[in-house]
Amino acid sequence: MSRILLKIPKVVLQQQKQQNVHLINTTNAANSKINSTAAMSSWFQHVEMGPPDAILGVTEAYKRDQNPNKINLGVGAYRDDNGKPFVLPSVRKAEERLINKKLDKEYAPIAGLADFTKHAIELALGNDSVNIKEKNNATVQAISGTGALRVGAAFLNKYWNGNREVYLPTPSWGNHTPIFQHAGLKVNKYTYYEPKTCGLNFKGMLDDINKMPEKSIVMLHACAHNPTGVDPTSEQWKELSKVMKSRKLYPFFDMAYQGFASGDVARDAAAVRIFENDGHNFVLSQSFAKNMGLYGERAGAFTVICSNKDETDRVMSQIKILIRPMYSNPPIHGARIVSEILGNDELKTIWLNDVKGMADRIIGVRQQLKDNLVKLGSTRPWDHITNQIGMFCFTGMNAQNVERLTKEFSIYLTKDGRISMAGVTSKNVEYLAKGMHEVTK
Ligand code: LMR
Repeated sequence: MSRILLKIPKVVLQQQKQQNVHLINTTNAANSKINSTAAMSSWFQHVEMGPPDAILGVTEAYKRDQNPNKINLGVGAYRDDNGKPFVLPSVRKAEERLINKKLDKEYAPIAGLADFTKHAIELALGNDSVNIKEKNNATVQAISGTGALRVGAAFLNKYWNGNREVYLPTPSWGNHTPIFQHAGLKVNKYTYYEPKTCGLNFKGMLDDINKMPEKSIVMLHACAHNPTGVDPTSEQWKELSKVMKSRKLYPFFDMAYQGFASGDVARDAAAVRIFENDGHNFVLSQSFAKNMGLYGERAGAFTVICSNKDETDRVMSQIKILIRPMYSNPPIHGARIVSEILGNDELKTIWLNDVKGMADRIIGVRQQLKDNLVKLGSTRPWDHITNQIGMFCFTGMNAQNVERLTKEFSIYLTKDGRISMAGVTSKNVEYLAKGMHEVTK
């Protein structure tokens, strides 16, 4: 191939050189103008530094600490007895099976993987559920429990045909208030925890429920209440269901810890099933972060129990319309793991055993913590450590106690005195008890 060489006249070259110099000069002038404007003001000069997250900020502070004895009891994330993150054997097996299936990586539908949503709602309501049989459940996959709550809040803010105000227990999970407020709902409180007994104030709870305006939304932690570890008894749930029905109150169940309260997933779903049997229509958020250890996979579900199949279809269509501009469609891997486990008898049996193992380890360290405090001569009552259930212990320590525990012992927990029992091990429990005794003397 021949190449044509152009000979550029000298005078043209001279002109080009002058133009380039001009271009460089203009660009420099523009840049320095931009820089000087930036020095004077910026687009986001008005943005103030926000506080760290009340729960996840604790992990950030823990990571910066150099003390080899440090303990993170902030976030509710299960650890093994060596304090290490735990991948469930059933999850490892499910992943191996998924790899062998060589699945594609296409988008999930807006509502998520159908197999996953089917298994998720069956896990919550049981295989005999009337609502499942009659196709009254509008269930979508969600970005774990938080995402399920957020989709639910958006749906209720747009379509709830009653008092668009949500009532949260006092205290409740720290993220509940911003989730509902972010969606535009007004947040109110009802009595729940009794600091004097470190238990439930059931009478106060009922009194408040009786005063709520009809058709208000009531948030109920289905099991293993976060942060207190205090749940109503089965009899109390039955009474709550009756009162809420007669008062025309709308239950919003948050079930993030199914299996963690008793070690038995069916038993932990009792409250939701009582309400279903009593004929409530309710909304439900579910998370597989804790009971399958799928924290980072963001696998959860949101369900609206409807009155009939036709209503379910219409509700489902509107939830999809809400989801599409938020995140389009959910991630697939975690949902596939869940489906693999719940859809296979052998894997499911392994998983049920994994859940029981995690719950039992936590029950065991609750006892160890209490025993160590007694051994050290603490005169404070610590029975609530073993009476409370699930992942958390609401210790009753105040903000000053917590501050000292962090400063003097590098033990990290939320300011309200909540301990994630999942971070306590047979190796660090003595050190923790020593710290707790010192700061509460
Ligand atoms: C917790 O309460 O620690 C967990 O639910 C994790 C979280 O996102 O706050």
